[in-house]
Amino acid sequence: MSELQRVNAAAEFLCARLPQTPELALVLGSGLGGLADRIEDPVYIPYAEVPGFPLSTAPGHAGRFVAGRLNGRSVLCMQGRFHYYEGHEMRDIVLPVRVFKALGCRALILANAAGGVNYDFSVGDFMLIKDHINFMGVNPLRGTNEDEIGPRFCDMSRVYDPALQQIARDVAAAQGLTLREGVYLGYMGPSYETPAEIRAFRTLGADAVGMSTVPEAIAASHCGLPVLALSLITNMAAGMTGQRLSGEEVIAIADRRGPVFQKLVADIVAALP
Ligand code: HPA
Repeated sequence: MSELQRVNAAAEFLCARLPQTPELALVLGSGLGGLADRIEDPVYIPYAEVPGFPLSTAPGHAGRFVAGRLNGRSVLCMQGRFHYYEGHEMRDIVLPVRVFKALGCRALILANAAGGVNYDFSVGDFMLIKDHINFMGVNPLRGTNEDEIGPRFCDMSRVYDPALQQIARDVAAAQGLTLREGVYLGYMGPSYETPAEIRAFRTLGADAVGMSTVPEAIAASHCGLPVLALSLITNMAAGMTGQRLSGEEVIAIADRRGPVFQKLVADIVAALP
């Protein structure tokens, strides 16, 4: 089966279950899935039911699609995503992105929890991702290219859509919310980074570090789906404070900042063209 056939099979299955054609797709990360609970007239579709989909295992991730209306827009939301550190293949991690495109979504919002690398940032800050560094050691486009999905050699000079970024800035400003901006570095995980790695990543130009988002953003760029990506800074990265890192702390901060984050994303959804 070609990748396009796999994408189309999943898209056809979802299309039959969806209440309406989704305008926007959202991928919500660790502790940020609460936004899906704001969706009106929700239809829940567990990933396990979708042909070709893997199972999500990360803590804080529900592992299902939630479709419905958010602030007047029809959305298809992933409550939980697939990570490379879970052992998933890259083609499975990016399958949902290609399915969003096949379903006719016009934009993709990616959200994640990330460690702050920039010393100007604080725990609880939100960061607009302006660009990324793929430090995962893998590329989701490796292997046979299917030209129907996207080009073999794909331009990466505008992965994060400038117009969507401006909408996010305007919405944050209207809410009186400080929105940091910076470069997200994707790290394979699942171990957190060492202090030496964090110093190296800062030198390379990273402002935040996390274990997701980069594969999905590359695949979206490849298939021509405009992307907006936001990080919640759940901790300062390794070696930046006297404290050690814990996954529980990341989820606790995500829970605490969840409502503010949900309002930001919900208003961005309403403001999208
Ligand atoms: N490093 C990598 N991934 C993360 C971090 C971090 O410090 N915080 C949340 N996700």
